[in-house]
Amino acid sequence: MTNTELAYRVYGGEPVVGQITCLGAKNFTTKAMVAALLADSPTELVNVPPIGDVAITRDMLTAIGARVQASGDTMRIDPTTIGSGNVPTPDSGSNRIPILLLGALLHRFDTVAVPVLGGCKIGERPVDFHLNAIEQFGGTVTTTEDGYIARRSGRLRGAQIKLPYPSVGATETCLFLGALAEGRTVISNAAIEPEIIELITLLRAMGAVIFTSAGREIKIEGVARLRGTRMPILGDRIEAASWACLAGASDGDITVRGINPNNLGNFLASFQQVGGGFELLEHDTVRFFRRAPLAPTVVETDVYPGFSTDWQQPFAIMLTQANGISIIHETVYENRFGYLRALNQLGANTQLTTHCLGGLPCRYSDSNHEHSAIIVGPTPLRADGHVITIPDLRAGLAYVIAAAIARGTSIIRGIHLLERGYGDVVPRLSRMNLRIERVALGEVL
Ligand code: EPU
Repeated sequence: MTNTELAYRVYGGEPVVGQITCLGAKNFTTKAMVAALLADSPTELVNVPPIGDVAITRDMLTAIGARVQASGDTMRIDPTTIGSGNVPTPDSGSNRIPILLLGALLHRFDTVAVPVLGGCKIGERPVDFHLNAIEQFGGTVTTTEDGYIARRSGRLRGAQIKLPYPSVGATETCLFLGALAEGRTVISNAAIEPEIIELITLLRAMGAVIFTSAGREIKIEGVARLRGTRMPILGDRIEAASWACLAGASDGDITVRGINPNNLGNFLASFQQVGGGFELLEHDTVRFFRRAPLAPTVVETDVYPGFSTDWQQPFAIMLTQANGISIIHETVYENRFGYLRALNQLGANTQLTTHCLGGLPCRYSDSNHEHSAIIVGPTPLRADGHVITIPDLRAGLAYVIAAAIARGTSIIRGIHLLERGYGDVVPRLSRMNLRIERVALGEVL
């Protein structure tokens, strides 16, 4: 523990009631910042969230010479001053963005070097699809202890890419590579998450020629240049689902603003199945509450339009309050249930298994990864000054929800991980009736 370590202290046990506005989506904002580097004039992004991942990405952009100016929630990125294709690890740390910079900057420089990736430890998270794609576009890649180096001679050429799995990041790499490559690119088995569709819209607004079609296929006719543009960032659908789960788990009533309900797709179905209710108030406003006593369910995470892997952690907290045995089968990442152990300390009854429970065998069926969870409910959660340490970003917000429904006081450590993806957590939750404080750990231990 450092003297300066901050933690959250949460006094839980009451239904959470009130209104909250979703901030801009983390998993689009940082990609939009990379897209801005493809242009030959500045791009302005609006509704940029005040989160750690944006700060890390901004530091990487600044380190290579881009001019990044922020004013309130507006960020202006001027790529015309970029002078280097050598991206260092900023003091603020690393995230998943360096691998996207590798492809994006390769149009501008014939050699690009990026550092090793950071981000949440929720599985091995290889980058082989990205590296293979760069090679198919005509580049070469070397992996070193410090990161990745890509090289090219001449302009990158359009390619036919068949992704082995609809990876979000690899689809983004292919979009960045294909937009300015010579000729046609076809990406099959592409990811189609709302943030990908939004990225395509941004690239189109910059002048890219990109066609989408049914069946996960994206066609790109490469252009010689892209220009800067202006774009508002869409509301964060992971946040929205988390606030819904907070309402459901605490038997509260939360109105969530700033979200397109279409982007919550199958979450809304699963939420209703377990007894959650919602009401569409305006085009971007949804009220969430508990409609009936919570019932158990079986959930399998999947790529979009399936139930997102980033929704399973807050949903699991709600399932601890459901009357019966629920199952979550995590099929996107092999190691995303570390957070359940601390939940059991608060009184939850959960177990992990290496089997594929509840559905078809997934990619991890022959592995030793504990990727299915059994949650037996209902279990009232209790905290008696318990200290729980956040293992990864999404688990972090799940712990806040667990602490909110647990009777008593919880101390949540490792909040820097949570704040990489969620901005203004304490003021926004305090404006509802949740008592949550950001405190120096030394003062509360
Ligand atoms: N994969 C490979 N090889 C690759 C790329 C991916 O095997 O080269 C595998 C991964 O190991 C994983 C699966 O493909 O098993 C899906 O990974 P994907 O590439 O889709 O994930 P990502 O782009 O690294 C983004 C989000 C994640 C989110 C996933 C899935 C960002 C910065 N991260 O990750 O968000 O869970 O898509 O939707 O956009 C989070 O925000 O907390 C988070 C982890």
